[in-house]
Amino acid sequence: MNGPADAVRDYYDDFADHYVPGWRSIQYYGPLVADFLLRAVTPECRVLEIGCGPGQLTRDLAPDVAVTGTDVSPQMLAAARAGRPQGRYELLDLHDPVPAAWGRFDVVLAVGCLEFCRDLTATLANLAAACAPGARLLVGAVEDRSVGTGRREFSADGLPGIDMHCYDAGVQLAAVTAAGLSPWTYRYVPAWRHEEYSYVVRYGLWELRRD
Ligand SMILES: C[S@@+](CC[C@H](N)C(=O)[O-])C[C@H]1O[C@@H](n2cnc3c(N)ncnc32)[C@H](O)[C@@H]1O
Repeated sequence: MNGPADAVRDYYDDFADHYVPGWRSIQYYGPLVADFLLRAVTPECRVLEIGCGPGQLTRDLAPDVAVTGTDVSPQMLAAARAGRPQGRYELLDLHDPVPAAWGRFDVVLAVGCLEFCRDLTATLANLAAACAPGARLLVGAVEDRSVGTGRREFSADGLPGIDMHCYDAGVQLAAVTAAGLSPWTYRYVPAWRHEEYSYVVRYGLWELRRD
C-alpha cells in the first residue's frame, strides 16, 4: 500500500460485493441524480461517470447512450461491467486528467466520490477539459457547515487511513469558476447517512454547464 489512492482502492475492492444494498440504504442522492439524467441525457449522447463504483447510477440508461465509468477499484469496475456490458469502464484516479483519446462527453457525473478529492479545483478543471461544448454536469461535494457547532469536522470522521474532504460553498464556487464551468443550480442537500457517527452528510450539489 503506497498512498491514499491505494488505501481507498483496497477498501472499495473489499466492499464491492456488498456495496449496492448497503450503500443504497444510506444514500439519499439517487433520486436527484436520476432526475438530472432524465433531463440531461439525450439519444446517443456520451456520459462520463467518475468514481462510478458498481455503476448503479448510470447502468440503466438507454442502450444507445455511451457510458464511460472510471474508478480506482478494479472490483468496483468489474461489478459495473457486469451490470452494463456495453459500457466502458476504466481505472482512473479522479485527480488525474481524463485521457483526450476517450473523446469528449455530453454529460458528466461526479457524485458519491468527491469525498475522496483532495483538490476540487484541479478535478473540476480535468472534468471541464473532458466536456463537449454545451455539456451538462452534476457535481456533489461534501459541504460541512457543522464545524463550530459541537461536532467534529467531516474529514475527521472518515474511513481509517483514508483522507476524506469537504469544501465550503465559497470554495466550491471558486473551483467551478476556475474550471471555466457555469453554475446552473446549486442546492445544499442530504447526501448519505454516516452510520458510525449517526448524522447525515450533506452535499453542495451543483448542476453546471460547459459553454
Ligand atoms: C461511495 S462509492 C460511490 C460510487 C458511485 N459514485 C455511487 O454514488 O453509487 C465511492 C467510489 O469512489 C471511488 N473512489 C474513491 N477515491 C477515488 C479516486 N481517487 N479516484 C477514483 N475513484 C475513487 C471508490 O473506489 C468507490 O467506488
